[in-house]
Amino acid sequence: MNTRVLTGITTSGTPHLGNYAGAIRPAVRASTQPGVDAFFFLADYHALIKCDDPARVARSRLELAATWLACGLDPERVTFYRQSDILEIPELTWLLTCVTPKGLMNRAHAYKASVDANAEKGVDPDDGVTMGLFSYPILMAADIVMFNAHKVPVGRDQVQHLEMARDIADRFNRLYGGDFFVLPEVQIEEEVATLPGLDGRKMSKSYNNTIPLFEGGAAALRAAIMRIVTDSRQPGEPKDAQGSHLYTLYRAFAATHESEAFRKQLEAGMGWGDAKQALYEKLEGELAPMRERYDALIADPARLEEILMAGAAKARKLATPAIERLREAVGLRNLNAGSMKKAAGSGKPAEKAAKGARFVSFREKDGSFRFRLMAADGSELLTSIPYADAKQAGAVVKRLPADAALQAQGDGFVAVLDGVAIARSAAGAALEQAQAALTSLAQQ
Ligand code: TRP
Repeated sequence: MNTRVLTGITTSGTPHLGNYAGAIRPAVRASTQPGVDAFFFLADYHALIKCDDPARVARSRLELAATWLACGLDPERVTFYRQSDILEIPELTWLLTCVTPKGLMNRAHAYKASVDANAEKGVDPDDGVTMGLFSYPILMAADIVMFNAHKVPVGRDQVQHLEMARDIADRFNRLYGGDFFVLPEVQIEEEVATLPGLDGRKMSKSYNNTIPLFEGGAAALRAAIMRIVTDSRQPGEPKDAQGSHLYTLYRAFAATHESEAFRKQLEAGMGWGDAKQALYEKLEGELAPMRERYDALIADPARLEEILMAGAAKARKLATPAIERLREAVGLRNLNAGSMKKAAGSGKPAEKAAKGARFVSFREKDGSFRFRLMAADGSELLTSIPYADAKQAGAVVKRLPADAALQAQGDGFVAVLDGVAIARSAAGAALEQAQAALTSLAQQ
């Protein structure tokens, strides 16, 4: 089986060069690995927690979708969708919310940071804290376990959220007695480049030191590069390449031999202006073809919408049956007969279904006798082979609960007694349910 790798991108900003080198480029590369089933989504419900500007949210969804596709994400190969197109996600969020201890959420870093900041200001601890922020990790857990992702590549700041996702999924599994969710593993992007920004600190929107990726075109890229802070050494003076973030930026986009040559030139006295021009050309070489695709996609939102809706359809093929099973497991069932039958295999519900299971004997037209094992809700589980007389059939019925073994056979199962298959499953019956019924009858 392929490894399912899933990650979300919050749609609250415009992608910059740091996002590209740190997240987009490595993720797109990883998605082309054999044996990997990649899920990428725009975490636009999460964006609402941070951003209450509708125009910003809308624009960011468009920009991010176009960016990921322009950077080479292949929507045929990966599952690429918007979180808010998967209606099962908020539904699952609620199911998980109901098994999540409030105390666990109290410990979330993002929430605690707000509380600490409020304490410092001397205001109410929960000032400005929405329930969205408070239960952010539950929504994120739903994103992940909805698709039973094995691996979740994220930055260090998200590790606690992954631990919480595992914890919540595990609680649900235990409480409802089934393997409903895979417990996801965090995959920390260790060696991924954290790019320095214009001033040498980590490139980040909050420091206002970013280099744009596509927005503003080549001119904005060049203008930003020309604003990179350097020391005051003049052309001709040797530069400290290792100590300059301009060199760090160059290295993130160049082959080893090119970086070496660039370093030697700096040490030999290349002027900062020339170095910036060289960095610009290097970046422009990699980004220009992608920017062209980006501009074409931004200009064609109908096409983007279509790609994302196709991605949502692909994702919902998995999400819809998954949520049905979960609704069933927690008791949100069809009131009509048959609903108990579907509960088979999910531990506790199967047990309940078993109580009240019974045998029914009947006579065939040819005079032979058979019996059926019925579930509590009246659905058939097993039908026996014909017996010549009622006494014989009755003796088998008595022994069946304690002595028969159920074995899968064909697309159903059989009950084996003394090495002979004496009964066969009814269409649609589940082995686990029949087993639970027999166990319960054996205990009576
Ligand atoms: N919280 C993540 C971030 O800020 C984004 C995100 C939302 C996510 N849901 C996710 C990441 C699920 C991985 C898996 O980076």
